Amino acid sequence: MIAPSILSADFARLADEAAAVAGAGGAGADWLHVDVMDAHFVPNLTLGLPVVEALLAATEVPIDCHLMIDDPDRWAIGYAEAGAHNVTVHVEAAADPVALAKNLRAAGALAGLSLKPGTPLEPYVETLRHFDTLLVMSVEPGFGGQSFISDVLDKVRSARRLVDTGHLRLLVEIDGGINAETIEAAAEAGVDCFVAGSAVYGADDPARAVALLRDRVRAVTPHRWTE
Ligand code: DX5
Ligand code: ZN
Repeated sequence: MIAPSILSADFARLADEAAAVAGAGGAGADWLHVDVMDAHFVPNLTLGLPVVEALLAATEVPIDCHLMIDDPDRWAIGYAEAGAHNVTVHVEAAADPVALAKNLRAAGALAGLSLKPGTPLEPYVETLRHFDTLLVMSVEPGFGGQSFISDVLDKVRSARRLVDTGHLRLLVEIDGGINAETIEAAAEAGVDCFVAGSAVYGADDPARAVALLRDRVRAVTPHRWTE
């Protein structure tokens, strides 16, 4: 799955930018990744629930909300209730991630847990049994256009093993520095869902950039594709 991040899109034309990657007949973006930042958990400020609600009304592409905010225990539920498909919170910010996951699921969303590059996976394996997605950050959260931190691929491989052996049931998602070069190593490590901001919206043709990224994944992991 490919999830373009609108962080690198034109914020004055978000509906058009969503349409630019939607594609025809299922060929485009699988999810649209929306980065919510509060200038506290990360040193940047983006958008919040009103903009997500407007996007939900403007596109059919499932919305993947990545909440880089303090106190997600209080704020995340609103995104699920609004209709976001997946709502991801940071383990470094959540006081009670298991309760949060249950509430997100009860509101009809998938529940996602994200780990910053320096946050290990092992202490959270039991917690992750309550989640549908694991978002492995491959840059320090806060800004688009940073370089991929390949050290996090060990974490991806560990998560992949836990899923493949049945200990966890979740999608492994990666976010940060994904482009036509880095996506292959991420795919080989076992990522299911690739977030890409600048590589998609920095391209002349965002829809073509999505298709090219997907082609790269299929080329290196043909055994994981059933179509
Ligand atoms: C960064 C965000 C990412 C960002 C990725 O904190 O979480 O989703 O948009 O941008 P690129 O793909 O340019 O690294
Ligand atoms: Zn993100």
